[in-house]
Amino acid sequence: MTETIEGIGRLAGSVRVSGDKSVSHRAVILSALGNGRSTVRSLSSSNDVLATVNAFRTIGVPMKIRENVLSAEGGGLLRFEELGRKIRPAIDCGNSGTTARLLAGLLCGAGYSARLDGDESLRRRPMGRIVGPLESHGGVVTSQNGRLPITITRSRLKPISLTLPVASAQLKSAFMLAALFIEGESVIVEPVRTRDHTERMLGWVYSGIDVLPCPPGNRITVSGRGELSNLDMHVPGDISSAVFFITAALVCPRSEIVIEDVLLNPTRIPVLEVFRSMGAGIEYEVEEERPEPRGRIRVKSSDLRGVCIDAAAVPLLIDELPALAAAALFAEGETRVSGASELRVKESDRIAGIVRMVRSFGGSVEELEDGFVITGRTGLHGGEVCSDGDHRIAMAAAAAAVGIEGKTRIRDAECAAVSFPSFFQTLRSAVVS
Ligand code: S3P
Repeated sequence: MTETIEGIGRLAGSVRVSGDKSVSHRAVILSALGNGRSTVRSLSSSNDVLATVNAFRTIGVPMKIRENVLSAEGGGLLRFEELGRKIRPAIDCGNSGTTARLLAGLLCGAGYSARLDGDESLRRRPMGRIVGPLESHGGVVTSQNGRLPITITRSRLKPISLTLPVASAQLKSAFMLAALFIEGESVIVEPVRTRDHTERMLGWVYSGIDVLPCPPGNRITVSGRGELSNLDMHVPGDISSAVFFITAALVCPRSEIVIEDVLLNPTRIPVLEVFRSMGAGIEYEVEEERPEPRGRIRVKSSDLRGVCIDAAAVPLLIDELPALAAAALFAEGETRVSGASELRVKESDRIAGIVRMVRSFGGSVEELEDGFVITGRTGLHGGEVCSDGDHRIAMAAAAAAVGIEGKTRIRDAECAAVSFPSFFQTLRSAVVS
């Protein structure tokens, strides 16, 4: 499907985005492992999170969703292990890397025989980073040269002792989930900080987890085979979706919006500080700290200047770089992103996707092996953007397009549903003239 955006709009009023995808995946997983009925409100309605829900339905954990409220009947860790003795689930992870990686760790740890597969894009993404460490801890796991499909054969893992080879919250989480089923203490060291939802959320329902700060990262200890209690929570809006509205409001003159009920977890808000260092008028306040910090973000159109983002900053900004690239088109001077080669192994090669997007708008960009350099304010015009089926490229292009004179056509725009099914309606309703 192709979406057409008319620039230049003005954004006003209040906006709500779909529930945070990372928090939602974990809420579904912990609901399946907890003891008793769990309720999760404002669950992300994204295709990715549905892939995780469907995986647990395939395994046999009862889960219902009504109006974005998940009700799940978990039976604790032992019951979850028992389910795995009855079936060999074949799990379709769709486009979702988080589903594939977290479940690979979880199912291997829980002693399942299972097969994990995904769509064409997910089949291109690296899984060796998870398969290797699972094997070295006693897992019997095969892959297609480090790619999906992955086949797991019932095995028993020994306690995990791992320093993450890649700054990845997905990897960290996969091993923390595996560790729940392993007798004794598992230790996972992340040399640099990544999003911390698994640690936080596990901390509310499980007593055997400890996080020791080891700057710039953390050392996480999980004592296995305890009991998980049920979960009752509300999922705040996804800040990685909110950033597209922030970009659009910043670059469209006379705009001012408030994004309500957004996740403001410290490992997810560095993007707000980057926008501020570009001169953005952004204010935010945490209204509630638990279960995850959340609050509102107020954004006003602003005169932006370029910014430099290097390797140290990338892990906590990784999903927001397409939105920052869109904003960079309107910023005075150069925006340079380096140390971001992980972007090449996301849902698409996002460095190539960003470069293509900038060129479709007539912008100036240099492609680097591990990033890009955009020079802003160079005679932009509407164009035709190919998202390559990548939700964040499609939404970044839409955010830029509202600020650019003329019409922009975004191809394969339906991929926005991977993280935010009603993205285009929400964007249209925020544009008032
Ligand atoms: C995610 C972690 C990030 C992010 C992805 C979601 C998660 O991936 O890009 O969209 O929920 O843990 P990596 O941890 O592989 O960098």
